[in-house]
Amino acid sequence: VVRLLVRLIVGLLAFVGLGVVAAGLVLWRSGISARTPPGTVETALARRLRSIAIPADAKDRKNPSSPTAEVLEAGMAHFADHCAICHSNNGSGDTEVGRALYPRAPDMRLDATQSLTDGELFYIIENGIRFTGMPAWAHEGEQAGWQLVHFIRRLPKLTKEELERMAGMNPKSPEEWREEEDARRSLEGKGKAPPKPAATRHKH
Ligand code: HEC
Repeated sequence: VVRLLVRLIVGLLAFVGLGVVAAGLVLWRSGISARTPPGTVETALARRLRSIAIPADAKDRKNPSSPTAEVLEAGMAHFADHCAICHSNNGSGDTEVGRALYPRAPDMRLDATQSLTDGELFYIIENGIRFTGMPAWAHEGEQAGWQLVHFIRRLPKLTKEELERMAGMNPKSPEEWREEEDARRSLEGKGKAPPKPAATRHKH
């Protein structure tokens, strides 16, 4: 009976919550638009709820790998290929997509992200964040997730050289790649570019 009551109360609260959100959407006339970023109250509330929703044992999980050169390199390649479209190579979130999502892709170099535990970052990468643009990446395997956690810790310290290298790892269509390669080669006085070598791409 107690359980039923709790469920009823939780259900009722959720219903009232939805009502408040719906009323907010109408009253402030922002409707379903993603053009303005969420306000500070909404952001603080959402982050608090998100923190509560991540199980304590998931937060406490330790990274099973060490941040060796190979691990960081793998994390970097993966980030440049799958994450940079929203988060940018340097983690600032300053991309065409990242700036336009609701909520915006956060600057992951800042304390708000860096103060999350390794377990929390891993949980977010694996499961994504519902009602936001952040996808779930569990299909990439746990090893990839933990490598990304190591790489996210490095975001505030990335060098210019590393960022330049990442730019070369960002997804490009075969046409884009050929255009850039042709331009580079003509500067060097060489002929047309050969097809894009498979080895420069991040593999699954
Ligand atoms: C389609 C856009 C998109 C892609 C691609 C994407 N993310 Fe995100 N990510 C977001 C958004 C938006 C948020 C903010 C969600 C929020 O505010 O709760 C986010 C949040 C996060 C966070 C939590 C940071 C914080 O402080 O809230 C982590 C960690 C993260 N992403 C890692 C990744 C990694 C690693 C990848 C690539 C494997 C990735 N993301 C790919 C959009 C994206």
